[in-house]
Amino acid sequence: MAIINRIAAFHDDMSAWRREIHAHPETAFEEYRTSDFVAAKLKSFGLEVHRGLAGTGVVATLKRGDGPSIGLRADMDALHIHEANGFAHKSQNQGKMHACGHDGHTTMLLGAARYLSEAGKFKGTVHFIFQPAEENEGGGRKMVEEGLFKLFPVEQVYGMHNWPGMPAGRFAVRAGPMMAAFDIFEIIVRGRGAHAAMPHTGIDPVVTAAQIVTGLQTIASRGTHPVDAAVVSVTQIHAGDTWNVIPAEVVLRGTTRSFRPEVRDNIEKSIPRIAEGIAAAHGATVSVRYERRYPPTINEPGATEIAARAATDVVGEAQVERNPTPTMGAEDFAFMLEQKPGCYVWIGNGPTDNERVLHSPHYDFNDEVLPIGASYWARLVETTLAA
Ligand code: NI
Repeated sequence: MAIINRIAAFHDDMSAWRREIHAHPETAFEEYRTSDFVAAKLKSFGLEVHRGLAGTGVVATLKRGDGPSIGLRADMDALHIHEANGFAHKSQNQGKMHACGHDGHTTMLLGAARYLSEAGKFKGTVHFIFQPAEENEGGGRKMVEEGLFKLFPVEQVYGMHNWPGMPAGRFAVRAGPMMAAFDIFEIIVRGRGAHAAMPHTGIDPVVTAAQIVTGLQTIASRGTHPVDAAVVSVTQIHAGDTWNVIPAEVVLRGTTRSFRPEVRDNIEKSIPRIAEGIAAAHGATVSVRYERRYPPTINEPGATEIAARAATDVVGEAQVERNPTPTMGAEDFAFMLEQKPGCYVWIGNGPTDNERVLHSPHYDFNDEVLPIGASYWARLVETTLAA
């Protein structure tokens, strides 16, 4: 494996940073300590540091002569999970945990910044983007809205996420969709409450809601081209308080996933049509709210080739999977890819034994991966901004 020697030499430092961040997890837009830690490290490497985009966001700039500029992005936030691990660097913040490896992502990008500042062979400008609130809250979108690419213009932007179950030292990347668009919906079904022994005197929203849940399954199975991907999941059903009363109202909530805009449009149109039609058949009414959250994460083909080449330089061709199956999970790096061509890769986090999977209370980022990821970032810069 061609890990960059100077990066391998400070592997222990990176492990220490990673554990420091892991022990002090912070959630959406409250990454104050993490943001301070990241900014201090970047300053100590001699980079110009900008703070305050999306509140806790940090952007550091490394400029070496005239040339193109690229953005490299890591996420800093943790999750509301009570950590079940017992090791020394376990979470010290009750109920919060780095269960998605953003501690590792942040550390790998810091490692790359240190190397590139000390010894990087490139000509141009690198913007290191550390974003808050990747989980649910769209910190990436907020940075873009607050002028990320106006303040720090880039020609391309790159992102990376660890992938448990894929061996450490392996990368996966594909052109086109890598992760899905993520939306949410809420349907309120209104009937007329009644005594449960006299259903004919009311309009039962529970039976209507049950048929709506079943009806929604046809959006993916009947309304979508069989070769396209679509997910419609009802994840909440709320109604009633006791045994013998038919309630007046049922609330359904759920999420949808898709890659193609046409599929997404069709899901958005179909949910109210099906819900209203079924409700009307039973004399009930519905109100439907549909909210678009994250766009799909789409890799640009040219940037994907560059990313694959950089990964190949580090781990060799056999360790770079070129056509992984995309997932229906979502990623707010998608907002940056909407603005700029770029590429998002997965880096293996090793085996999933002891429930070491994303968002598990037993998860931990694999420190073995740190110099591999940092070397990938460094090669990406040295390839794109060849001196
Ligand atoms: Ni994540």
